[in-house]
Amino acid sequence: MKRKKIIVGNWKMHLNVHESSLLLHRLNQNIKVHRNIEVVLAPSMLALQPLSVQIDRRKFRLAAQNAYFVDEGAFTGEVSFSMIRDIVHYAIIGHSERRLYFNEGLPLIRDKVAAAIRNDIVPILCVGETKSEYEAHETKRVIHDQLTTAISNLASREIDNLVIAYEPVWAISNGINFANHVIAKPDQVAGVVTYIREIIAELYGDRASEAVRIIYGGSSNAENAYSYLVTEGVDGLLPGGASLNYLEFSGIIAAAARVEALALKEAK
Ligand code: 13P
Repeated sequence: MKRKKIIVGNWKMHLNVHESSLLLHRLNQNIKVHRNIEVVLAPSMLALQPLSVQIDRRKFRLAAQNAYFVDEGAFTGEVSFSMIRDIVHYAIIGHSERRLYFNEGLPLIRDKVAAAIRNDIVPILCVGETKSEYEAHETKRVIHDQLTTAISNLASREIDNLVIAYEPVWAISNGINFANHVIAKPDQVAGVVTYIREIIAELYGDRASEAVRIIYGGSSNAENAYSYLVTEGVDGLLPGGASLNYLEFSGIIAAAARVEALALKEAK
């Protein structure tokens, strides 16, 4: 089964509305229409609406970085999935920064995944171990717990659409000091990606396991993108820091296009 490559720029809590609009403008100038690659931008909640008007829908889709699982009610300060359903295609759920700084636990993340799907928004579910868990060789246990809880309420056909992002917390750089940062090697990523597909196959069968897209996030940039994207089973990337720089982000899309061109050549 051919899975469409997907590159998701997580802008995190950077850029005001004007700056977001400017970055989109630059990306639009630098990125052409790619039929085989989905390019997704995840700006702040505040910038989603204005960018949804500005965006060239042939090139880009939008993702929320977060939303609340109840559709409406007395939840001061929150924005629900139902409020953004007409604006975004995707929502990042379970990012390690939300788990860490906002105490998002497994049941809340499970409820958010269900809420996104209920509102026709595709979850980009982030899973990944911390540095201490990695050092204690607990990667598989952590991934297993995070993944199985998050998808426990879903039916098989709902899994097909899902995007799972493997983001080892220890490899996240936030764009700072790329050169000296510890990065996950493509073969390490491949091992975890295979494990994730095994879990999905066990729970939902081989078809779902083949359909689900699994991407990698953690210090990805224009220079290393190709090495991850040619890795067996890796369907895309979730850059943070590099997505704030239009040349870096465009470089990642160009790397994805090279990988797609290679795959096309090999298929002939
Ligand atoms: P960096 O690409 O800055 O390491 O961030 C990764 C990330 O957390 C994306 O969600």
